[in-house]
Amino acid sequence: MEHRGFFLTFEGGEGSGKSTQMRCLARTMQRAGRSVRVTREPGGTPAAEALRAALLSGEAKSLGPLAEACLFASARADHVRQLIRPALRQGQDVLCDRFIDSTRAYQGGAGVSGEELDLLEKLALGDLKPDLTLLLDLDVEEGMDRADTRRRSEQPDRFEADRMQDQEKRRQAFLQMANDEPDRFSIIDASQTVDRVEKAVAAIVTERLGIDLSPVAKQSSSL
Ligand code: TYD
Repeated sequence: MEHRGFFLTFEGGEGSGKSTQMRCLARTMQRAGRSVRVTREPGGTPAAEALRAALLSGEAKSLGPLAEACLFASARADHVRQLIRPALRQGQDVLCDRFIDSTRAYQGGAGVSGEELDLLEKLALGDLKPDLTLLLDLDVEEGMDRADTRRRSEQPDRFEADRMQDQEKRRQAFLQMANDEPDRFSIIDASQTVDRVEKAVAAIVTERLGIDLSPVAKQSSSL
């Protein structure tokens, strides 16, 4: 069997703390001696980051939800080919802030059909699937309050600006996906303190993937 690292994705709504938790887990895994690559979507490669700018600024909004979904898929195809697959092949663990399930929740919620999304997924991913998807689930209102505080005076991006009703629809879509694929997903209550969420994430990673997260002792220099 091809030796490869683990592929973990973080999903959730606005203000759910995905990015913070992903960084915490990356540090813990590195301390445990693992080689970790942290990335995000849309983005992760120069071409995908250029598409990210067009998508999040709202520049691409007038093209409509299907064209936006195609742009997310183009960014993802480049990301998978240039960064994710090579890193996994080299035995690195890849932690990604949002991935395919965000397209299903956001663009699916905006009206792109299941068949269209399946097709785009096949084109962008081939047979690649995350080994584990951590869904940080949070009440929409609380998430939006947190996101407002974090942004301070900055304008919300194209998708953050959507109405509460859209955000609730996405939350339910994520929960449904987790329900449909319990072997890949784990749902975490993101209303807990950062410390508690961090511990929950670490426990799930150990249990599901068998990764030992105890810190490795620093090598003392023998010279
Ligand atoms: P980001 O700043 O990374 O948001 P967050 O901190 O909430 O993760 O911006 C990514 C935005 O793009 C976010 O609002 C969700 C949206 N998005 C989609 O609509 N479809 C997708 O496939 C992905 C990956 C993201």
